[in-house]
Amino acid sequence: MHDVIYLDNAATSFPKPDLVHDRMMSFYRTCGVNPGRSGCDMALEAEHMVSGCRRKLSEFFNASLVGAGKKKDPDRLVFTLNATHSLNLILRGTVGPGDHVVTTWLEHNSVIRPVNHLVKLGAEATFVRPDREGFVDPEDIRKAIRPNTKLVIVNHGSNVIGAVQDITAIGRVCAEAGVPFAVDTAQTAGVIPIDMAASHVSFLAFTGHKSLFGPTGTGGICVADDALIESTMWGGTGVKSAYPYHLEEYPYRLEAGTLNIIGIAGLSAGQDWIAEQGLDAIRRHELELLAILDDGFRQIKGVTVYGPKGLDRRVPTVSINVNGFDASDIGTIVDVDFNIVTRTGLQCAPLVHDHIGTSPSGTARFSIGPFNTREHVETAVRAVADIASRRN
Ligand code: ALA
Repeated sequence: MHDVIYLDNAATSFPKPDLVHDRMMSFYRTCGVNPGRSGCDMALEAEHMVSGCRRKLSEFFNASLVGAGKKKDPDRLVFTLNATHSLNLILRGTVGPGDHVVTTWLEHNSVIRPVNHLVKLGAEATFVRPDREGFVDPEDIRKAIRPNTKLVIVNHGSNVIGAVQDITAIGRVCAEAGVPFAVDTAQTAGVIPIDMAASHVSFLAFTGHKSLFGPTGTGGICVADDALIESTMWGGTGVKSAYPYHLEEYPYRLEAGTLNIIGIAGLSAGQDWIAEQGLDAIRRHELELLAILDDGFRQIKGVTVYGPKGLDRRVPTVSINVNGFDASDIGTIVDVDFNIVTRTGLQCAPLVHDHIGTSPSGTARFSIGPFNTREHVETAVRAVADIASRRN
């Protein structure tokens, strides 16, 4: 177990920082009650932890746009189960029959499938294609926008090829056209800085269990002050119980039922851990390792590396194939012979694979996290060189 080289951080970060484990245990032991449902000290403490986490994440993403004289409103940071849940709430709450949505070929099934279901229900969709390296031209987004476009929804960092989109340029296009702009930050939150206000983002969907270092079952949406969304999930909120409908005010508008408070305690600790390390330092470390992995793979005869060539607009995720091997075989060999954990196949993002020509068998994907070392990525390069040499 201890010798495992974990290079599947795009699926979930592992290990989590000790601080996250410790805080989750101690919080649940001492305050594991339902926040907002009673006035006891423990419930108030739990509520305090949850609102503190909303505030930290709102600030981390520069989430709430502030009008003149208005204060930041952390309640517009709502908690969900994961990025898929967030993206479903965003799409269902903004796009209806007869409406049009613009998205891209870079999307994960967490966007592709809900969009396809909306189309079945009478909506229209345009999927914008990126260039060869995986970058979407903001002008193509502009051209795709129609009078009935109700949402532009874009993957920030590809979970297959690592390409990071210029969300500020796309956000500007959306702002000029008066169309709400949603961003899927599953692969970028906690990896690169995100400034929601500067990038004109209306809805930011995040997951907690990847580079924010919370546990699985955590995620959320940051809703800009001027963004409108209908609630599509209704139920208990702990307040105004006599009111017969779901509450319109935040955070209740997009939250129903008891929150995952042990998960939020972990997510909150993840924020503290990132603050301790410094996002810049984490990014520098991951880029250093990405350079070794990417360069190393590119120098091996018979290996194809997909996605952007430069490092700047990339998350630390590299997809490859080796001549003569199926992607899944590469994953099996690096696992069995070298104890390296990767993810192979289509990685829930089939359109990206159509775009780079790797459907239906996909790629072998190596994704780096802050706990990886130089030795880990050098071993991965040696492992792939060994596989390539078996056919050369
Ligand atoms: N979306 C995650 C991945 O790419 C699970 O592996």
